[in-house]
Amino acid sequence: MIPVPVLEEAQRDMLSLPGVGMSVMEISHRSKTFDEIIQGAEAGLRELLSIPKDYAVLFLQGGASLQFSMVPMNFLSLDASADYIVTGSWGQKAVKEAQKFGTADMAANMADGGFTRVPNQDELQLNPRAVYVHITSNETIEGVEFKTEPDVGNVPLVADMSSNILSRPIPVEKYGLIYAGAQKNMGPSGVTLVIIRDDLLPRVRAELATMLDYNTHVKNKSLYNTPNTWGIYILNLVCKWLKNKGGLKGMQQENEAKAKLLYDAIDATDFYRGHADPDSRSMMNVTWRLPSEDLEKKFCAEATAKGLDGLKGHRSVGGIRASIYNAFPREGCEALVEFMKDFERGNG
Ligand SMILES: Cc1ncc(COP(=O)(O)O)c(C=O)c1O
Repeated sequence: MIPVPVLEEAQRDMLSLPGVGMSVMEISHRSKTFDEIIQGAEAGLRELLSIPKDYAVLFLQGGASLQFSMVPMNFLSLDASADYIVTGSWGQKAVKEAQKFGTADMAANMADGGFTRVPNQDELQLNPRAVYVHITSNETIEGVEFKTEPDVGNVPLVADMSSNILSRPIPVEKYGLIYAGAQKNMGPSGVTLVIIRDDLLPRVRAELATMLDYNTHVKNKSLYNTPNTWGIYILNLVCKWLKNKGGLKGMQQENEAKAKLLYDAIDATDFYRGHADPDSRSMMNVTWRLPSEDLEKKFCAEATAKGLDGLKGHRSVGGIRASIYNAFPREGCEALVEFMKDFERGNG
């Protein structure tokens, strides 16, 4: 969901940005007006996430999926290796892409347990000579989230934060590179945020295609080619909305309270079974099972009829998934809890 006040402002200014006489989709990406928008978006993210000065903030395209390839293309080679901590389906995709460019080892692979938790520090088989360690901070499909960063020593930590960025404060300084598709918590699809520490830039491999080289986008401040101007405009408005809510600490409090409503409802009965271990439970994607697949189907159908749509788990894992991103209202969680109680009374 995108915050309603953001959609309202975008609607109001759709035909003409105030004082400009044209839509944001019509102005030049090299105009002063767009410069203010992209700089505003960068400043908003820097403030919200306390991004240190020695990090560049980029607005790219190609989704988080392109970052699965760009990260190894830039930093991995046939005579080097990277470590991947795989805690779910997106991490699996990331490691598969990396294996095309060099050695990508799984420092932990939580598939055997059915992706129900993040590994403990003593389960990690880290190679101190790895060029980076990759994690998926929140596995969107399984609903498994890292609550703290793994200790990876001096090796740069790279994170796919597509589905929990801006949901709570994070220590950016512990990361070498962070990437995230915008479409969960930042705005519309089509913009990919990359936050990259300066010292990694000289390590980028030579002779990459220009568009796939992080240095191109750092040097040109995300304006080497035409960026997704509309997406960056909305992202800027979302940052302002978040600041008005008290920043990421305020957002975290709301998110924790929303997630607690659902997890408490799951834990209150044996009828519902949470998928993730309590310590690894995602604050954004709450996943659980019912006693049978037939009941899960019925649950989704009846929920949809009551206006609670989109609860079917991802086709690869089944079950139920409630995605409760930043802009999803608390009332929606309350309505779902009421529905869960009713459904159990009728079918338990
Ligand atoms: C954690 C994670 N990584 C990567 C992706 C893929 O993102 P995109 O569609 O922007 O390529 C998603 C999409 O849902 C995701 O949740």
